[in-house]
Amino acid sequence: MGKLAITGGEPLRKTPFTTWPMSTKEELRAIEDVLTSSKWGGQPFPGKHAQAFAKKFAEVHTAKYAQSVNTGTVAIQAALKAIGIRPGDEVIAPAYTWEGTVGPVLLVNAVPVFVDIDPDTYCLDAKLIEKAITPKTKAILPVHLGMRFADMDEILRIAKAHNLKVIEDCAHAHGGMWRGKGAGSMGDLGAFSFQSSKLITSGEGGAVITNNLEYMEIVQSYINAGRASLTDQYHHRIVGFNYRLGEFQAAVLGPQLDRLPEHAAIRERNMRHFESRIKNTPGIGLLKPDPRITRQAPYGYVMKYFAPQCKDVPRAAFVGALQLEGIPCDGLFYEPVYKSSLFPVDSSDFPALSWGREKPLDLRNMYSCPEADRAAYHEAVWFPHQLFLGSSEDVDAIADAIHKVLSGIEELRGLDHKAIRNQRLGRADRES
Ligand SMILES: Cc1ncc(COP(=O)(O)O)c(C=O)c1O
Repeated sequence: MGKLAITGGEPLRKTPFTTWPMSTKEELRAIEDVLTSSKWGGQPFPGKHAQAFAKKFAEVHTAKYAQSVNTGTVAIQAALKAIGIRPGDEVIAPAYTWEGTVGPVLLVNAVPVFVDIDPDTYCLDAKLIEKAITPKTKAILPVHLGMRFADMDEILRIAKAHNLKVIEDCAHAHGGMWRGKGAGSMGDLGAFSFQSSKLITSGEGGAVITNNLEYMEIVQSYINAGRASLTDQYHHRIVGFNYRLGEFQAAVLGPQLDRLPEHAAIRERNMRHFESRIKNTPGIGLLKPDPRITRQAPYGYVMKYFAPQCKDVPRAAFVGALQLEGIPCDGLFYEPVYKSSLFPVDSSDFPALSWGREKPLDLRNMYSCPEADRAAYHEAVWFPHQLFLGSSEDVDAIADAIHKVLSGIEELRGLDHKAIRNQRLGRADRES
């Protein structure tokens, strides 16, 4: 196969993959429509494009109501408000996710409780949830991470048994379905992000979906500076904020959503081909398929790398070598949140961490989640979804590069290279 690119050989792939975000004339037309109107913002509420988008977005996810907001983080925050999370309440979340899943819990002065992940899916391990429930627990916040769903059957059963609410973090799951039900429609609310890397995007943005009108009314008031909701049947009056999505962004989301089924089909076909090329490869593992996922929504392709089967060459070297072969990918994509440099939580900023306790909770040091550690620091390899929006030759290049690096794995032993050094660091701490 030839020398690895990281040690001076020829890169296997020299041409770029499909880039993301992607737009067509439809986005341009929609933006022009906003530009030539006098309605650029989210007021009057809701804007024409925001309203049209919300209707379709709810339908796609088999939910009754949807509300666009300005980020995915805010979507989670508004959902927490909707279910009545109060200062000091506890919210159970997976250890392995983006910091933006749990930041909103702190922001409403509630306490995140981290639970380890299921190694088969890298999502919240439902088997461990009940051990984490205390009298203060009010909600479970599963994340449908990467290309799998958290076990919603078990999570909903546990929530019912313990009278807990469920907010699904669907930042990775646009269009996905579990037993024919849309991501975000099974719990009390679902929260989505439309940040640039997501399956549909407006650069920044988010949405909340629910089947519960009262929750939707609270969300609408909360994100619209406390004004009455559109239906105002429950007459909630709360302190709210301007977390509205502007019309330029809402306009872009319409065509993105229209294109989602076509993209999903291409991604699914290409990912199937990819799996046929890498399954049964020593050193590589696949996440376990789950037939309850009835429509795939892969934010990225996530596979496992087993260093012990690869002469103990660490994942950082494997991923660094793949990158130099011309394959965009990442190993330390997420860390257990409480270990991440983006989570330097200071208990004096979040008083609920101290209430009723002799010493404040030390979120950074009180947890041990071995499966999250394994995925974060040793095993997981993430490929961005857009690599799978191109041709089957693109997919073959990714698979060929994996096989090339594995067959030249000896070259990586003890190797020092900037790409490898960077892979030992979290994304926020890398050298550019
Ligand atoms: C799993 C997860 N949750 C929440 C968020 C927060 O979304 P946003 O960045 O739009 O605030 C993200 C975004 O990256 C995410 O990946």
